[in-house]
Amino acid sequence: MKPEILLVEPMLDVIEARLDDAYLVHRLYAANEKEAIEKAMPAIRAVVTGGGTGLSNDQIDYLPALGLIAINGVGTDKVDLVNARGRDINVTTTPGVLTDDVADTGIALMLSVLRHIASGDRFVREGRWAKGDTFPLGTSPKGKRMGILGLGQIGRALGRRAEAFGMTIAYWNRSPQSDTGWISYSTPKELAANSDVLAVCVAANAATEGIVDVDVLEALGREGVIINVARGSVVDENALLQALEDGTIAGAGLDVFVGEPRIRKEFLTSPNTVLMPHQGSATRETRIAMGELVLANLHAFFNGEKPPTTVN
Ligand code: DGY
Repeated sequence: MKPEILLVEPMLDVIEARLDDAYLVHRLYAANEKEAIEKAMPAIRAVVTGGGTGLSNDQIDYLPALGLIAINGVGTDKVDLVNARGRDINVTTTPGVLTDDVADTGIALMLSVLRHIASGDRFVREGRWAKGDTFPLGTSPKGKRMGILGLGQIGRALGRRAEAFGMTIAYWNRSPQSDTGWISYSTPKELAANSDVLAVCVAANAATEGIVDVDVLEALGREGVIINVARGSVVDENALLQALEDGTIAGAGLDVFVGEPRIRKEFLTSPNTVLMPHQGSATRETRIAMGELVLANLHAFFNGEKPPTTVN
């Protein structure tokens, strides 16, 4: 009999087909599966979930046989790793394979804000170009300073890309990363004070919650732009919305939000802000590579081996 697993949110068809080949997959998001899932709960040994969705401790309580939470992403902020460790549950992620796409998203957001790509699109579609309205000049990234908050794999990839645009790079990280040759600042505020574009790439956890606060935004200043490809929770959204509204900073490019997908409605009208629906890793190529890692972790777990990308 196939082992039973719980799939919390949909994956690519090709990956789901392979899950179906190897496992009896209960789909939490399918309305018609609720009863079957309730019956299956005692037998479910693995859960596959998204980085932005995770699995709550309450959900874990319903799954007494659970031994693996396979996250299809790198964020572990939606899983209580200490609780999982205490219950002997492996937690795995999909490191490495999504780095480039998330970094690309950061650059796309930066260019979109600096060069008004999204508002330019609206300007043309609304017929304002044809009417002779004036479109504002953009800001060149060349010669500007990018500050990277959190220099993990994604931060590094973003920095390398920004260098290709003629930017100078500095960073703040919990531990210095001297191999990059980039300037390191000892606080997020100092980094912001020395940045034109502040790229937020830091992992979300209790220590980084709201790390981009009113002081950091004030230090970034009136010409400064913030890009967030990490998690909404690392930014104080009240402070950010206020800073955008009153011109404390110049603009923002945001892929992630608190409470997504139901984000604060003030974002919908905030000036010079480009919004994306958490698409950092969302390319077909990368979602296949992430799915392969999820499959490899499940395979190892059900064969009694240590899943290759266990984080706890
Ligand atoms: C991640 O890797 O955690 C991404 O944000 C996808 O959720």
